[in-house]
Amino acid sequence: QKIYLAEYKPFPFLIDGVELNFDLAPRATRVKSKINFRPNPDSDSREFFLHGENLKLISAKIDGKEISPEVTDLGLTADVPNAPFVFEAEVEISPETNTALEGLYMSGGMYCTQCEAEGFRKITYYPDRPDVMATFKVRIQGSESVLLSNGNPVEQGEGFAEWHDPWPKPAYLFALVAGNLVAHPDSFTTKSGKEVELNIYVRPGDEGKCAFGMEALKRSMTWDEEVYGREYDLDIFNIVAVDDFNMGAMENKGLNIFNSSCVLASPETATDANFERIEGIIAHEYFHNWTGNRITCRDWFQLCLKEGLTVFRDQQFTSDMRSRAVKRIDDVITLRARQFREDNGPLAHPVRPESFVEINNFYTATVYDKGAEIIGMLKRLVGDENYKRALSLYFERHDGEAATIEDWLKVFEDTTGRDLSQFALWYSQAGTPRLKVSEAFEDGTYILTFKQETPPTPGQSEKDPRVIPIAVGLLNPNGDEVRETCVLEMTEEEQSFRFSGLAAKPIPSILREFSAPVILERETTNAERAFLLAHDTDPFNKWEAGRALAKDTITRMLTEDRTVGSDLLDAISKVRRDDSLDPAFRALVLALPSADDIAQTLFDAGHTPDPSRIHTALETVALSYATHLQDVLPKIYADMHIDGPYSPDAEPAGKRALQGAVLSLLSRLDGGNQARAQFAAADNMTQQLQALACLLRIDRGREQLAAFEEQWKDDRLVMDKWFNLQTALAAPEAAVQTTEALTKHAAFDWKNPNRFRATLGGLTGNMAGFHSPDGSGYRLVADWLIKLDAANPQTTARMSTCFDSWRRYDADRQALIKAELTRILETPKLSRDTTEMVTRILGD
Ligand code: ARG
Ligand code: ZN
Repeated sequence: QKIYLAEYKPFPFLIDGVELNFDLAPRATRVKSKINFRPNPDSDSREFFLHGENLKLISAKIDGKEISPEVTDLGLTADVPNAPFVFEAEVEISPETNTALEGLYMSGGMYCTQCEAEGFRKITYYPDRPDVMATFKVRIQGSESVLLSNGNPVEQGEGFAEWHDPWPKPAYLFALVAGNLVAHPDSFTTKSGKEVELNIYVRPGDEGKCAFGMEALKRSMTWDEEVYGREYDLDIFNIVAVDDFNMGAMENKGLNIFNSSCVLASPETATDANFERIEGIIAHEYFHNWTGNRITCRDWFQLCLKEGLTVFRDQQFTSDMRSRAVKRIDDVITLRARQFREDNGPLAHPVRPESFVEINNFYTATVYDKGAEIIGMLKRLVGDENYKRALSLYFERHDGEAATIEDWLKVFEDTTGRDLSQFALWYSQAGTPRLKVSEAFEDGTYILTFKQETPPTPGQSEKDPRVIPIAVGLLNPNGDEVRETCVLEMTEEEQSFRFSGLAAKPIPSILREFSAPVILERETTNAERAFLLAHDTDPFNKWEAGRALAKDTITRMLTEDRTVGSDLLDAISKVRRDDSLDPAFRALVLALPSADDIAQTLFDAGHTPDPSRIHTALETVALSYATHLQDVLPKIYADMHIDGPYSPDAEPAGKRALQGAVLSLLSRLDGGNQARAQFAAADNMTQQLQALACLLRIDRGREQLAAFEEQWKDDRLVMDKWFNLQTALAAPEAAVQTTEALTKHAAFDWKNPNRFRATLGGLTGNMAGFHSPDGSGYRLVADWLIKLDAANPQTTARMSTCFDSWRRYDADRQALIKAELTRILETPKLSRDTTEMVTRILGD
């Protein structure tokens, strides 16, 4: 059943307060609710329907009198007075058998919840929609030592705890945790002098992995005060780590629940990338307290209102904590890999979708990452000062409300006097715009002409021109910048911009900082790319030039049977050898585009990508880099050595990144000797894992793999890496077999989303392995998706996206994939989640 944005209606009742009472038992938890309703003056309906799924109704009352409501699989309907009334219910639920990990469930012996988007209805009968906001009082009875819910603690005693959340919130922000946990405590004093108690709760044994997360939390709290003027609003802020979790983390009011992989870290067990990601996610969830919780969404179509903005905020935070240039490049790599792929395939949808069957299927790269790009564009268009003023107005005007994208844009219109109706197309039109550029130079005037076009996407064949902020700088042929960055505001389908007073035809640097999520199409030469790689003052475009050069080389190797040209090698090696550049940046320049990126590029140019040839081409380029740079590799490797204890800060992490990139090249020349030495000497996970990966990539490292397993067999998060590395890096011919063998390993706990994703996701990301010509990769993944769907629809649906680019490939592969998708779809009792995804992927 499809739900439409256009059909929004307010709920007929308002809630003045909710009281919940939990009596915990693994298979028979009793939940008593008492809800004060009153008619909503903004609604003319008086229909009383409460959501409720998988609940055993014990009793229900209205104003103290027992009622017999009409109950279906989806909820409960009752006759109610046209005046304020009290609804009470008692239900029974079974957290232990809840493998979908939505609602109240158990993970490693503890109780925890995940209610976003629509999980609260699996806890009790309730209007489970974000525009119904209420204050909650919660009493938990259980024998666990730690009993937590949202808000401030009211009373604790033997076997019970009471919590009160004074801030009205929608049910999706409800949380409860009960377990024998240990706290990593700390405190924070807000700028107005309020003392806040902070805790990270973990299972015994994980205490030593909390310190970094706690520091990241305090940095986030300070940053949000300083940059957005946002202060925390409760006496306590708790974070809990759980092992079984469908997503990364959840911003429940005052009680954030995290996938343990997104909060726990120690130098021995977490990589530099893990540390950075943890810092970003802690910030993200904390920032939701204002962008998401104090101001929430009217309905789930507005999801990007909180997610796009909060991703944008966490990106700003990370670029302030670390390197702005490196962060932007990383974000664009991810955007292209996930969001552009989505936008160019059967799952393309607008940042604000118009309909859905299962909202969990719309927690996508488009909603999150393109949603964040839209905010970046808006900020660039109105300027930093206006952005700041608009945000203050947003917080002032909508605090305590469930808002819409229209509300958000109105704040900017009121602040700046701008008409944003054309800009709003970014929210309603799906697809990545192509931006074609042509240029002319005459009498000292340089003219750039842009033409925009967005290809059709499912359900949207025609597209209107959008507002595109194009940041441009101009360089002289001698390498100096003759025009600093300016922002061209494109609004027409085709539009020219003039730069006069130039002595010579300049070299343009277009779309600096990646100022808009578009695909730039410009006829250019590798000489010019090499020039920009050497001279561009914008670090993003400097990197982009090198990336374009590499992509051009690789695609020509595949379509014209070229070899790796010296233009690429010389340009790259200059950067490689340039000690004045940030090591993290040099590592990014060295990294090759992904196989998936090459496949999409070939497909866009009218070719049929061959996964195994792409794999070979990438290997060939890597080997050429290695040979071309062999004289300097050992020196760079040695120069990047760091003395003293491990620190996850950006600077040493950047050095390790470059050292790792060099090690990967070196290992192609020395049979893995340096990697074996690094593996043996490593005192941190970054270097240990780098070394192991280098060995696996050259088909060595059996011994190290065994040693690694022996060392880390009791650490779940590290073992996820062990599973992942093997399936992700197996040679194309061995990948399916390796994966299949690992799914029979005693530690392959398929119901744990992290382990499932690590193992099967490693294979689906191993393009040449997954796309084995005999279809064995497709079959193996489909088998597992069918099995997982019965237990956990959400993770299954999400993983089914591995098939979304099937129409890129040859007819044989398409037929094989189609057969697997059809087989999945024909599975009896397939979940609504997976049915919707697979149907969309198959298209018509
Ligand atoms: N709001 C969370 C975040 O981005 C994500 C939770 C999504 N959960 C889900 N089941 N769809 O921070
Ligand atoms: Zn979020």
